[in-house]
Amino acid sequence: MKRVTASAPGRVNLIGEHIDYNDGWVLPFAIGERTRVTITLRSDSKFRFTSAQKKSAIEIDLSNLVPSKRRSDWSDYIAGIIWALEVNHRVDIHIDGQVPLGAGLSSSAALECAVALGLDHLFSLGKSKVDLARLAQRAENEYVGMPCGIMDQSISLMAESGHALLIDCVTLETRQIPLDLRSEGLELLIIDTNAHHALVDGGYRERRERCQSALRQLGMRSMRDLDEAQLELFGNSLDEISYRRVRHAVTEIARVHQSVALLEKKDFPGIGKILSASHHSLKVDYEVSCPELDLAVEVAESSGALGARMVGGGFGGSAIALTPQEKIHEIKEEISQAYREAKFAPPRFFTAQPSDGARIESSE
Ligand code: GLA
Repeated sequence: MKRVTASAPGRVNLIGEHIDYNDGWVLPFAIGERTRVTITLRSDSKFRFTSAQKKSAIEIDLSNLVPSKRRSDWSDYIAGIIWALEVNHRVDIHIDGQVPLGAGLSSSAALECAVALGLDHLFSLGKSKVDLARLAQRAENEYVGMPCGIMDQSISLMAESGHALLIDCVTLETRQIPLDLRSEGLELLIIDTNAHHALVDGGYRERRERCQSALRQLGMRSMRDLDEAQLELFGNSLDEISYRRVRHAVTEIARVHQSVALLEKKDFPGIGKILSASHHSLKVDYEVSCPELDLAVEVAESSGALGARMVGGGFGGSAIALTPQEKIHEIKEEISQAYREAKFAPPRFFTAQPSDGARIESSE
């Protein structure tokens, strides 16, 4: 085999935010937008990366494919995967990324997972999707330097169309949960706020570290061993901020389980309420929202959405609104109008249907 084309999707997370690295469960699904990569064997000494969305090519020697030599640009996501998979045969990698960038829809995981699956296929490495998800997370943590959890890579690799995926972020056991909003007259509206606040990296890392130290202080091994009632009983040793961070984690874990039960009963008004409760918790207890996200959520709710919340890491990026189809137009108009009045940059809107995970498109 000399050449392989692989693709992987971005994602949106229905519920379970900032709990993948807190030993929780998450319920994301893959969106239709994908990143395609074509990987071709080379016979010289370089790795060469090109992109349909970038002007110049990047060439790297094997000796420079190490975290300490990271370039701090898009090529790190690819180089990180090559490094994590310990590939040392030179390749050309051409990317065509159709997942919107910077919208909190995980274009980075789509790129990592497409490259990981493509390399696995090209070199017959025989890794499972779970192996590849863990490798891609490691690449992002150790090579790119972003201390993300395992959600984005897992869903990008393991999604199935028509389903959200319940992921146990400790064991990576999964359960496909049927999700067909359109046949219920509903749509999941994605509102890209176009806001990117500077806190993104530092804020994420800080939340993660604070949760870990709060657990140590409580003498607990995992957030999944704790519930809200126990936190009330034993949490008085925590400072006020840590208490709120832990409260978000434990209540969000509970909301994921409630959502699965409600989805099984097709109780969408109930899910809407949970989405809104999640937003409140992310805003007040976890403090990862921002004015643009809050406004999108508030206006979506007041103009007819069943519920809405920020998604992804926060401090900008996207919100989702669970919306009756006939209200979509009005909700978009109201949000755009509110953004104009607030003098925010215009938002972008997408809708998303649960789509397939990473796959090999062709090989020769
Ligand atoms: C980012 C990270 C994920 C997850 C979310 C928040 O998308 O990459 O691992 O932590 O934020 O839920």
